[in-house]
Amino acid sequence: MSDIKNYIKANKNRFINELIELLKIPSVSADPAYQQDVLNTAEAVKDRLEKAGCDFVEICETPGYPIVYGEKIIDNNLPTILVYGHYDVQPADPLDLWDSPAFEPVIKKTALHPEGAIFARGACDDKGQMYMHIKAMEYMTTTGNLPCNVKFMIEGEEEVGSESLGWFVKNNHEKLANDIILISDTGMIANDIPSITTGLRGLSYVEVEITGPNRDLHSGLYGGAVANPINILTKMIASLHDENNHITIPGFYEKVEELSRAERDEMAKAPFSLENYKKALAIDAVYGEKGYTTNERNSIRPTLDVNGIWGGYTGEGAKTVIASKAYAKISMRLVPNQEWHEITELFTKHFECIAPEAVTVKVTPHHGGQGYVTPINTIGYKAASKAYEATFGKTPIPQRSGGSIPIVSLFEDELRSKTILMGFGLDSDAIHSPNEHFGIFNYLKGIETIPYFYKYFTELSK
Ligand code: BES
Ligand code: MN
Ligand code: MN
Repeated sequence: MSDIKNYIKANKNRFINELIELLKIPSVSADPAYQQDVLNTAEAVKDRLEKAGCDFVEICETPGYPIVYGEKIIDNNLPTILVYGHYDVQPADPLDLWDSPAFEPVIKKTALHPEGAIFARGACDDKGQMYMHIKAMEYMTTTGNLPCNVKFMIEGEEEVGSESLGWFVKNNHEKLANDIILISDTGMIANDIPSITTGLRGLSYVEVEITGPNRDLHSGLYGGAVANPINILTKMIASLHDENNHITIPGFYEKVEELSRAERDEMAKAPFSLENYKKALAIDAVYGEKGYTTNERNSIRPTLDVNGIWGGYTGEGAKTVIASKAYAKISMRLVPNQEWHEITELFTKHFECIAPEAVTVKVTPHHGGQGYVTPINTIGYKAASKAYEATFGKTPIPQRSGGSIPIVSLFEDELRSKTILMGFGLDSDAIHSPNEHFGIFNYLKGIETIPYFYKYFTELSK
């Protein structure tokens, strides 16, 4: 394994160029206009897995986008690592906010990435991080350093709720049997402060529609005499938080696990600068639930946020109108033990209940999923920790993240195995935002660290 640094050095440009080629394909799963591109990306991933030394690779059809499956089984008595990642990306909109086109990758230096970063949609989430695993595999197979069996499962619907993957996993227990699941689709604290993600939040995503009068009305002739759905919707949404920024939906917090003082004190030891946080976002103050720190608010506490709101006239100039309908998309980030179907139901009941008689309410659930916490006293976590020590020279800090990968809890339920979240992105890499990027340092460090996980996991499993 001592040759890994040299291998990366010798192949660095090719590794970067191969990722750039993958990033040029706009595999936006949310928009049917990109259907062929999503399918082409699956083919490209299949091709790369074959070239990296998998013995068997296939495109598995599903009711939605296909799953690329690959494996190299060297000895049934050795442990098996299942690598999960996704080849689909978020839409690039709004396009005019990108400094360079989202699907024409460029390398630029930034303050946090002095060695350069690749700017493109999917650079960090998740093509770049997924591709680190394929390049680590290439290194291990071409240099005789693969210590165990490996399976790859790369999906194309993560950004839209992983519906087909749920179906695939339920129907393929034997094919996917493994000792540990390894994912790089999260982040770390900083390039000199490695961390391992030990928790993900769950999610309930709903869309609401408020209907008032049966048609758009003249706001002079009718204004003041009928319910304006936009006024009502904003009032209803505002009432979902109280003056302490607690969520007011009855039962919402019932199953929320309260961390002990000791656990919270432990969390607070992770390096964090509130000043830098505010500066990076150009805000004068943070905002959130009373009684919790910023890091607690975005990891161990559940939230409710409006993601989009629309209705009425938004064109040029002014139009005097009371719209018939108003809409909003609302996400609730959940913590472990909160059951997402239950929360969706509590939300629906409450939202219907607080609506005045003058309007009707329709709540349509979208996707959702359970949160996840992983214990740190397992060989999986220990192997990951040792791997970071080998390549960063520092023990990584365990850290719960605010993001969601809903399929992780389903993996545990269906495949009975734990997941290790070895993410190499930074919060500032702008995933889902314009100008998403992934540091070259992070990309190469990921490729370097992954084979050590294989080595230590195999050793510790003996
Ligand atoms: N990779 C992210 C999740 C993530 C990012 C977790 C950073 C932790 C740190 C994933 O692709 C994602 O965007 N998930 C969605 C949920 C999904 C159902 C659309 C999310 O968190 O909004
Ligand atoms: Mn992702
Ligand atoms: Mn994402």
